Amino acid sequence: MLTIDDLGDLRGKRVLVRSDFNVPLDGSTITDDGRIRAALPTLRRLVDAGAKVIVTAHLGRPKGAVDPAFSLGPVASRLGELLEAPVTLAPDTVGEGAKAAAAELAEGQVLLLENIRFDARETSKNDAERAELAKDLAGLAEVFVSDGFGVVHRKQASVYDIAKELPSAVGSLVQTEVEALRRATVDPGRPYVVVLGGSKVSDKLGVIANLLTKADRLLIGGGMVFTFLAAQGYRVGSSLLEEDQIEVVKGYLDTAADRGVEILLPTDIVVAPEFKADSPATVVPAADMPADQIGLDIGPDSGAAFGAAIREAKTVVWNGPMGVFEFDAFADGTKAVAEAMVDATAEGAFTIVGGGDSAAAVRTLGFDEGGFSHISTGGGASLEFLEGKTLPGIDVLN
Ligand code: 3PG
Repeated sequence: MLTIDDLGDLRGKRVLVRSDFNVPLDGSTITDDGRIRAALPTLRRLVDAGAKVIVTAHLGRPKGAVDPAFSLGPVASRLGELLEAPVTLAPDTVGEGAKAAAAELAEGQVLLLENIRFDARETSKNDAERAELAKDLAGLAEVFVSDGFGVVHRKQASVYDIAKELPSAVGSLVQTEVEALRRATVDPGRPYVVVLGGSKVSDKLGVIANLLTKADRLLIGGGMVFTFLAAQGYRVGSSLLEEDQIEVVKGYLDTAADRGVEILLPTDIVVAPEFKADSPATVVPAADMPADQIGLDIGPDSGAAFGAAIREAKTVVWNGPMGVFEFDAFADGTKAVAEAMVDATAEGAFTIVGGGDSAAAVRTLGFDEGGFSHISTGGGASLEFLEGKTLPGIDVLN
């Protein structure tokens, strides 16, 4: 894979950068700007090199047409603040407005193209349609830098096809992410502990199957844990349950036992009558959940047991919160995991927080990002990496 260093002198050159600015929004307010900050090293470097920087990115899943609710306007403002330089937002993705703005760029200036998913060709399954958009993007620039790690698992025009149109290299974010995830997956320091949470088992099937051949311990929390508890024959009240996955999960439990991989499940659960911030919380045994209550977090004994397993590890990968951390009463399980990871890091373990919700949880709960070896910007991308899948956006650069 070529890096920015291999692209030669970039002064005055128009450089197209794919970033992942798919940030959570409350109206037009960005509630977690982690992905924008993660893009800064590459952008600053290009600015300092005197390049004319054109950034393309997506936000949300607009249906291939302009939708003001998904405009990158708020991102352009925040990016400008962080870069301490104005960032122009082009009025369109690759249309006349984008072309005119790209042509006017001066050395060291940054232009953000409007949401690339406003163009239906971006996510098209038709290779020719995607190639056509990639050609339009290529017409704006002379070289391409792939730096949107969160989207490298998508075979999309601005991620995959574009690299066939222009001399291409990885940016420093993709480079750092790939190095960190390789370190955790190729010959990891042991014990190798993986903590999985989040709502759905069905989203994590591939990764669990793969980790059963690699990890020493799997710690399971979050909404997906109730399918594991149900697979053990427990009643889970009105908690999230994927009944169609119970047999699959039973298979995992058997495979883990055969292979000597320990699957650690919570022994206590924080429950409440309703999915609400102020719904009265109580702690109950995982084996005895009341029928009229919803499990919203792992309990304190489980938090302590998970913490102990993490503190003994040499490699820890964590993907998915342990509970509804957005509500104070159900945030302790997620905090316990994050605290133990910070301790493990201080003791020399290599720790990765794998993207999406867990990265947002770490920041929302006020943890210092420096307390972890690596916080990934990729949710789906880091999971697919852990699954051992080929990531089109990386593969095309090789
Ligand atoms: C993400 O948020 O994981 C990435 O930006 C990819 O977004 P997508 O799942 O809509 O392709």
